[in-house]
Amino acid sequence: MTVIVGITGGIAAYKAVGVVRDLVKRGHEVHVVPTEGALRFVGLPTLEALSRNPVTTSVWDDVSEVRHVALGRRADLVVVAPATADSLARMANGLASDLLGTTLLATDAPVVVAPAMHPQMWEHPATRANVAVLRERGVHLVGPVVGALTGDDAGIGRMAEPEDIVTAALAVLDGPDAAGRRTGTDRVPTSGTRARGEQGDLSGVRVVVSAGGTREPFDPVRFVGNRSSGRQGLAIAADAAARGAVVTVVAANVEAGLTAGIDATVVPVGSALELAEAVHAAAAEADVVVMTAAVADYRPAEVLAEKLKKDAQGERMTLELVRNPDVLADLVAARRTGQVIVGFAAETEPDRAARIELGRAKIARKPADLLVVNHVGWSAGFEREENAIEVLVPGGEVVRETSGTKAEVAAAVLDLVATALT
Ligand code: CTP
Repeated sequence: MTVIVGITGGIAAYKAVGVVRDLVKRGHEVHVVPTEGALRFVGLPTLEALSRNPVTTSVWDDVSEVRHVALGRRADLVVVAPATADSLARMANGLASDLLGTTLLATDAPVVVAPAMHPQMWEHPATRANVAVLRERGVHLVGPVVGALTGDDAGIGRMAEPEDIVTAALAVLDGPDAAGRRTGTDRVPTSGTRARGEQGDLSGVRVVVSAGGTREPFDPVRFVGNRSSGRQGLAIAADAAARGAVVTVVAANVEAGLTAGIDATVVPVGSALELAEAVHAAAAEADVVVMTAAVADYRPAEVLAEKLKKDAQGERMTLELVRNPDVLADLVAARRTGQVIVGFAAETEPDRAARIELGRAKIARKPADLLVVNHVGWSAGFEREENAIEVLVPGGEVVRETSGTKAEVAAAVLDLVATALT
């Protein structure tokens, strides 16, 4: 397969070398197209040696070969890593003043980009708008992830690891039903459930399930988290796959063993911001999104690059938190016609009627198609096999009430989803 690796001018460019090497090692024909800025971070001879092909940045080289369109037309896949804020803006606007720009405009191949920049640049409305345009156009994003950045900074904006970029990029091409759809980093085949595409009431339906609980780091070793194990979400994913759906699981800190045996693309994430990116990327082409994950409403305002020392804190310490985006609310706001969105509401309220009232308020605030109210507490809901739910629709009517194993609850929820799709 012919893969074009675009490298743009950010410090993470040195890590893009790993992407090139990995693709070559896997037997692909790799052509590297760096920007002028990228070559300030990584040398052209390095890229030529690793890719085993000549490297140019300019549309004025090899003009007789019509190189400015030839590369893009030959490509089976284009990967841009790192993609700086500037390069995302240029892509969103179709600028083509260098070889990477023309290549991106001249290709029909899937495009996978791995953004890398400072958190403030990533969160800037201009970048958000550019990312939304690219996603809408079918561009696949991998990351960014939370971690150490250049200098003393840490936070969202670090480029995904080269190995994860390559796996995610190749997953985009994985299988006939995958083009433009499979954006995961870890496809887990199964023997226990029915094969995809076989008959079932969700046959061919593209389902995204978020599962687990997010972890919001404040230094390299610590985080603010919650007790969600991911079992309920995985039960939904497994049942959806068994009913014939094409399933993507965005798994927040879910034990690897729990996803084994589920016929789904698994996208591992850590924090709420990472989960938001992965869910929005997968939801762009999904028929159903089930938000089972316990997403932290707040994250530490600052992520330290080094371990926080207690000597500097004294007897008490205060951790400042800032609001995370509400993924479910954003999904509902951007819902396509016919897309079914399911929210979960974990409530500690033991009284059924009062719990339903809380659910009614929640579905009024975030009008998902279905809201599954889930009773949790010190000894209910989490890390257990059993669950008890009430399912509400907009308007507040309770359309289903059941308790049982997480598999039974999953089946009840998916029965309602199947009905909503018809
Ligand atoms: N959710 C989300 N993004 C967040 C927080 C929650 O997408 N930042 C989703 C969850 O996956 C779940 C639903 O929203 O499907 C839960 O709704 P929410 O109102 O956030 O529930 P709680 O966090 O329990 O709200 P509160 O603390 O106000 O009761």
